[in-house]
Amino acid sequence: MINRRSFMSKAAYSLAALSSPLFTRGNTIKDTHINNELATGNKYVGNLKAPKIPRVRVGIIGVGSRGYGHIRNIARIDGHEIVGISDLYEDLVNRASDTVKHMAPGKHPNISTYHGDEHLWKKMIEQTKPDAVFVCTNWHTHAPMGIYALDHGAHTFIEVPIAVTLQEMWDLVDAAERNQKHCMMMENVNYGREELLYLNLCRKGIIGELLHGEAAYIHELRWEMEQQERGTGSWRTLHYAKRNGNLYPTHGLGPIAQYMNLCRGEDQFHSLVSMSSPALGRKDFATKNYPTEHKWNKLKYIAGDINTSIVKTHLGRTIMVQWDETSPRPYSRKNLIQGTKGTLAGYPTRIALEGGVEQLTDSHNNWAQGEQLASIFEKYEHPLYKRLGQKSEEMGGHGGMDSLMMLRIFECLNQGLALDQNVYEGCAWSAVGPISEQSVTNGGEVQKFPDFTRGNWKTTLPLEIVE
Ligand SMILES: NC(=O)c1ccc[n+]([C@@H]2O[C@H](COP(=O)([O-])OP(=O)(O)OC[C@H]3O[C@@H](n4cnc5c(N)ncnc54)[C@H](O)[C@@H]3O)[C@@H](O)[C@H]2O)c1
Repeated sequence: MINRRSFMSKAAYSLAALSSPLFTRGNTIKDTHINNELATGNKYVGNLKAPKIPRVRVGIIGVGSRGYGHIRNIARIDGHEIVGISDLYEDLVNRASDTVKHMAPGKHPNISTYHGDEHLWKKMIEQTKPDAVFVCTNWHTHAPMGIYALDHGAHTFIEVPIAVTLQEMWDLVDAAERNQKHCMMMENVNYGREELLYLNLCRKGIIGELLHGEAAYIHELRWEMEQQERGTGSWRTLHYAKRNGNLYPTHGLGPIAQYMNLCRGEDQFHSLVSMSSPALGRKDFATKNYPTEHKWNKLKYIAGDINTSIVKTHLGRTIMVQWDETSPRPYSRKNLIQGTKGTLAGYPTRIALEGGVEQLTDSHNNWAQGEQLASIFEKYEHPLYKRLGQKSEEMGGHGGMDSLMMLRIFECLNQGLALDQNVYEGCAWSAVGPISEQSVTNGGEVQKFPDFTRGNWKTTLPLEIVE
């Protein structure tokens, strides 16, 4: 938990920061805030605890690459029953249903399957009446599916990013508030072992007052263009030809936002600037690998190969968010958080503290890393990871982070606990997508973040270090 003295000093700093020239030149910052009014009857859901559901009835939409991975993890967990599976393709629905029956014999006797028409997922929700719906489809269908599920009384779990446009994000916020249901974007990276360790170290004040973060999704995914009729590449490739900005920001940003308690009582997203490099790699890849008449050679790719955005928070902190799915370079999410007393970083995991890291290094000029960090993990391992880390690693999914997220989702639903990520966080993290597009289009102009909490972030509880 945040130390109270440091919290108060941050609040005073916040007021001073808000009257600084940066934040008073309102006219020069483009305001992307479109919806300031809580609709009549709606209630804020930032701290929502819903009634316990001992046996959660689950429906899942989209069992392609990601959804199939989720369903394999869900099948290994107790406290729920899968009642509906929907996808466009019959073979994918059957594969998912057969896998569940094979992995958890007798536990899911009534799975209704829906395939073929693109609207059948609605029928699944209407007929099976799930308590929770998992949306694992392409980006443009996240918001309409999520809103429909919420309006039919289901807690809703949506893949990343939660939506594509700011209007869709507001609509999801309104739907969650209207129905008093959870709407969580499934940011699995927040359940990574390193990320949980760093959250714990930040909360314990080990790196002092937080100043700056660096987040990224650098992952060479040109090979997805091989998926041409169906699968990720068939729809994701089109985005590179329609949008120019930071199209997939949440994996790197989610953990940094929770280290800083953004949207949660301490600080909030304020504004963003963004610039993109030239867009060259996709065209080169298409030219080299496909015939001239191929559909990938008919697209005009406009998304810069690498985008760099910088977020400014209300407290004046900065976060660099980079995105590159095209360039030939090693994977990284950066995961760097810098404070007044030290820096924690990823890729590789390394720590530098003023005066040195315990007995491991003798000054902040050297990183403690590799096997040196065993004692740090032993001392500061996040309690959630201590409890469920081994189990989740055995279950697998991005090194266990996917299963840890799923275990925790069902634990919260079963026990009526607040979820670890609320709808406002999912929207704020995803909003970097459309806001960065606006900034890039306007030559890097500063854009203001919408406050999806409508000011309620100030009374939203920080994410605890859950046991
Ligand atoms: N968190 C992570 O680590 C992670 C990793 C990969 C993908 N993702 C996200 O998961 C989502 C899905 O990505 P993917 O790679 O699995 O894509 P995919 O194309 O493999 O799977 C999407 C599935 O949705 C189905 N679908 C589309 N429209 C539908 C409709 N109207 N009704 C029913 N089914 C429909 C498709 O048939 C397809 O099988 C995306 O949002 C992506 O960003 C997240």
